[in-house]
Amino acid sequence: MSSVSRSRWLRRLLFGVLALAVVVPGAAGGCTAWVYTSAAVSTVGTTDFRNELAIPPLAPSTIGPDGSRVFELDMRSGTKEFRPGKITETWGFNGDYLGPTLRARRGERVEVRVRNQLPEASTVHWHGMHVPAAMDGGPHQMVNAGESWAPRWTVDQPAATLWYHPHPHGKTEQHVRRGLAGMFVLDDENSESLTLPKDYGVDDLPVIVQDVKFSGSGFDNSHRIFRNAGFLGEQILVNGTLAPYREVGTELVRLRLLNASTARIYNFGFGDDRTFALIGTDGGLVPRPTTLDRLQLSPGERAEIVVRVRPGERTILRSNPIEAGLDFWNQRFSGGDDRLDILELRAAATLRPAPELPATLATLEVPDGSTSVRERHFDLNLAGINNVPMAMDRIDLTVARGSTEIWVVRNADGMPHNFHVHDAQFRVLSVNGAPPGAQLTGAKDTVFVAPDSTVRLALRFDGPADPNTPYMYHCHLLWHEDQGMMGQFVVVEPGQSAGTPHAHGH
Ligand code: C2O
Ligand code: CU
Ligand code: CU
Repeated sequence: MSSVSRSRWLRRLLFGVLALAVVVPGAAGGCTAWVYTSAAVSTVGTTDFRNELAIPPLAPSTIGPDGSRVFELDMRSGTKEFRPGKITETWGFNGDYLGPTLRARRGERVEVRVRNQLPEASTVHWHGMHVPAAMDGGPHQMVNAGESWAPRWTVDQPAATLWYHPHPHGKTEQHVRRGLAGMFVLDDENSESLTLPKDYGVDDLPVIVQDVKFSGSGFDNSHRIFRNAGFLGEQILVNGTLAPYREVGTELVRLRLLNASTARIYNFGFGDDRTFALIGTDGGLVPRPTTLDRLQLSPGERAEIVVRVRPGERTILRSNPIEAGLDFWNQRFSGGDDRLDILELRAAATLRPAPELPATLATLEVPDGSTSVRERHFDLNLAGINNVPMAMDRIDLTVARGSTEIWVVRNADGMPHNFHVHDAQFRVLSVNGAPPGAQLTGAKDTVFVAPDSTVRLALRFDGPADPNTPYMYHCHLLWHEDQGMMGQFVVVEPGQSAGTPHAHGH
């Protein structure tokens, strides 16, 4: 049985058991109630915030002969003591878990020397980065165990919080779950001139959020019954730290939130419901700060927020039940009812004053769709996008370099999905025909699509053209991606047609 028909079968079984529970109350009803009740997780009020939040180090770099900024990333296996006295087997970049923060400036040429010291082949993808297809690190750029890969490109996009992670076809969830992920921060002239908190690790904090479950000396990555979304954990790691707190010494604190979980959707807010300013989305700073008290991020999405703290106080960043248009069952079994403590901020007794946030932050560079040359439709289904499962040797779309297109993405399934496109940042034009909310007004590369809803996106692919090497678009719930909710497109010169991709990397 395929996993799709299996999950349909499980759903039918659940409804069957329920129907039975109505007719014959007793054992079956009790069993269903137990499965339903035990599916919800709450760590609110029981998290002791005993560990100081780790800050991933900034990756050192050297300047290569051609002036490039050169980084080194070693993918390796290791162990880490997340819990006192208990060792967990992990994977990481240049360390045991996660990886350093890479940082580069617009206009710089970068090179990343990736060495795979894992026992198996993998890749490193630069999520959110505008890169030539052969440097993208998708499933066509596999790096075998013991081998190296050194992609190079010129950074040509606005300041943003991007990230990197493996992308081996069919195994992305596993590889990310073991610990392979890191941030890639871009700066530009504009971001450097703005009066925003920007002292890395001091008032500008990376917040890489993952849900995990431990078992013996490893992570328990098994999917529990009815979990259509994939793996859902019961404890939260931030930057690899369990139950983290962080002392802060300034009135304003910037958090670069990255949902690096493989299926979980977070609905962030503070325990006391204080407001915060949204200053950036996936692809960079938004035109102007917006005040929010909740911010939902699905897997792969990022947001930069700035929160104000008062001297001596503590406040908890928390995830609340999600608002994702899910039915009763999918809400519960996709972790939608869960409440999770994420991070406690502890303000010093005296705080350094911070200037007010600038009224305007950036000019968006994403297209507004007015010059679109074509519209394409994508139906999201676990069975495959437009019901076609991913195939490494099939190009699904061919896009002309420099042209703007409108992509209409619909969730045709009852379960949560999102949509991520490689290489380009896009603008969300509408959600179900209405203008998007504040959270979707900036540059995006990943967008949540609720069941039975439709988002319209405007994208432009600036190239370079490479008819033989595809980029990916996919659901970023990584188990869904692994199951084949992914397609491939190539960027060609106008009038050129797609070539032939290789069925395997290399
Ligand atoms: Cu974050 Cu195709 O990936
Ligand atoms: Cu990506
Ligand atoms: Cu999905």
